[in-house]
Amino acid sequence: MAIERLVEPTSFNEDAEEAKIEISLRPTSFSEYIGQEHLKKNLKLAIDAVKKRSDGSSLDHILLYGPPGLGKTTMAGVIARELGSGLKVTSGPAIERAGDLASILTNLKDGDVLFIDEIHRLRRVVEEVLYSAMEDFKLDIVIGKGPAARSVRLDLPHFTVIGATTRTGSLAGPLRDRFGIIHRLEYYKESEIAEIIKRTAGILGTEIKPEVLGLLAKRSRLTPRIANRIFKRVRDYADVNGDGIVDTEISRSALELMEIDELGLDPADRNMLSLMYENYGERPVGLSTIAALTGDEATTIEDYYEPYLLKLGLIARTPKGRIVTEKGRRHLQNR
Ligand code: ADE
Repeated sequence: MAIERLVEPTSFNEDAEEAKIEISLRPTSFSEYIGQEHLKKNLKLAIDAVKKRSDGSSLDHILLYGPPGLGKTTMAGVIARELGSGLKVTSGPAIERAGDLASILTNLKDGDVLFIDEIHRLRRVVEEVLYSAMEDFKLDIVIGKGPAARSVRLDLPHFTVIGATTRTGSLAGPLRDRFGIIHRLEYYKESEIAEIIKRTAGILGTEIKPEVLGLLAKRSRLTPRIANRIFKRVRDYADVNGDGIVDTEISRSALELMEIDELGLDPADRNMLSLMYENYGERPVGLSTIAALTGDEATTIEDYYEPYLLKLGLIARTPKGRIVTEKGRRHLQNR
């Protein structure tokens, strides 16, 4: 049985109230958005150029990729806001039929941003409609059935697609080619995560001792979403077990309760590492075998566990599968 995790994408361990807080913490402009400096610089330039032209042309379609929790959805919101455009949010799995996409597209206005999360999970039939719409802002639909069927071509508003994916490799070539701007979101620096936690504490009105910022940043997997979730749990702990002030002692106790170690690994990460090592030692093990060992989907392993463990060098990818590295083995032994 898979273990409930802090790194989970959305509502897994979150109620509506928590989701509301998470949304209230999202920056709404480039100036508020901490980190991803390279991406911001490029996007700012593209947006300024569109605004300056004012000839009705829309911003190029943008593909954002990288590990979950790094702010792809947040960035889409910032882009729409900076453009002064409307934003429609959907996701690959939510668009079941070509008709669903047609309805979304025909309801957009000129300049609007259409954010498609998990765009690699779009169904092939939907994907085909999307890339012709992205290419020339036309929608080809078939009306009627059998011999009476005819095809009509509708004009669409000039919109911008922002696609988000954890994996560019799974995106069909023709779809990927329709994106003028393709960017990878990087893990944040510890100092940026510390700044994000400070900002969050400010918004939530919680006093946090400056010396705690580094400690929490170190355990947040260099990922803002996780940093904010950890901070909220620490804040709860401080409210219940202290005077509401987040200091080192409170933070250490709360992290211990959450079983998050010095590297930011949670029980599920350590469970995966030790299952790999106990069963395969120093030999490579395939993704589907790891998934069978932990009881997760292979895609969950690939999208949620692996990127950070690879980044830390605790596991490595080889042509024959994944291996626990020397550093990974040491980390297990030190626990
Ligand atoms: N909250 C979540 N991600 C953020 C970011 N990149 N900058 C500021 N606040 C955030």
